Amino acid sequence: MLKVAIWNFKGGTSKSTTAQNVGAELAQAKLKTVAIDLDGQRTLSFTLAMDGAEPNILAWLNDGAEPLPTSINRLALVPGAIEMFNFSSDKDLIGQSLKRLIPYDVILMDCPPSLGYASVQAVLNADRVLMPTLSEPAALKGLSEAINLIRAESPEIPIDVLRCRYRQRLVLSREADDILIEGSHDLGFNLLHTTIPENIVIAESVAAQVPVRTYDAKSIGAKAYQSLTKELMKAWGLK
Ligand SMILES: Nc1ncnc2c1ncn2[C@@H]1O[C@H](COP(=O)(O)OP(=O)(O)OP(=O)(O)O)[C@@H](O)[C@H]1O
Ligand SMILES: [Mg+2]
Repeated sequence: MLKVAIWNFKGGTSKSTTAQNVGAELAQAKLKTVAIDLDGQRTLSFTLAMDGAEPNILAWLNDGAEPLPTSINRLALVPGAIEMFNFSSDKDLIGQSLKRLIPYDVILMDCPPSLGYASVQAVLNADRVLMPTLSEPAALKGLSEAINLIRAESPEIPIDVLRCRYRQRLVLSREADDILIEGSHDLGFNLLHTTIPENIVIAESVAAQVPVRTYDAKSIGAKAYQSLTKELMKAWGLK
């Protein structure tokens, strides 16, 4: 059971889209996978066409409820709840609830873009952090702050940084690459080789509430998430 927190305190960096598509790809690779929607926005639940499904995260945290099956074989979901916007506890409810997920090979925790209870507990309980980022100056400033915050709590946790909505031909993207490569040495994170391109088919698949592989398997977006998952499985020691 590998626990991965998908987190960045910057909003809109493709965290939920990555949780949805990496979840679908891991399931396709025969790994029993569960995605946990920790965000009051419930984007991940929406993208899996399960917004409003119950029992949701509150029952999972408080009453021992189990994850629900999705329409994708081997992919389960703990659906989100709006109450997560201001959810807090003095107990480690996330850590305790994760212990019940032993039958799963991989747990993907989709965190909100914040430093609230859910994000902090998810990172503290995770084996690894997957941090999607945009290749823009403002996003990169936030990235080093985010890495330092994680390191302050979990000095040894491996962090994989993923470039999303990547626009290959832009000078800005190449400048960002240089900053990221330097940062990977200075801050000690793993800069993933695979990038996820800016791709309208990905945006369309989110709106259609299906993974991009289901929406259009031949699209560059689908192929990118496929390559990414192969790279992650290697980095994460999964077969
Ligand atoms: N590679 C991509 N190409 C084009 N559009 C994308 C791509 N990835 C994500 N998007 C679009 O960006 C929107 C926001 O993505 P997403 O919800 O995954 O970000 P997030 O980091 O989870 O946001 P938040 O911080 O609010 O939780 C999606 O609804 C989708 O339309
Ligand atoms: Mg999100």
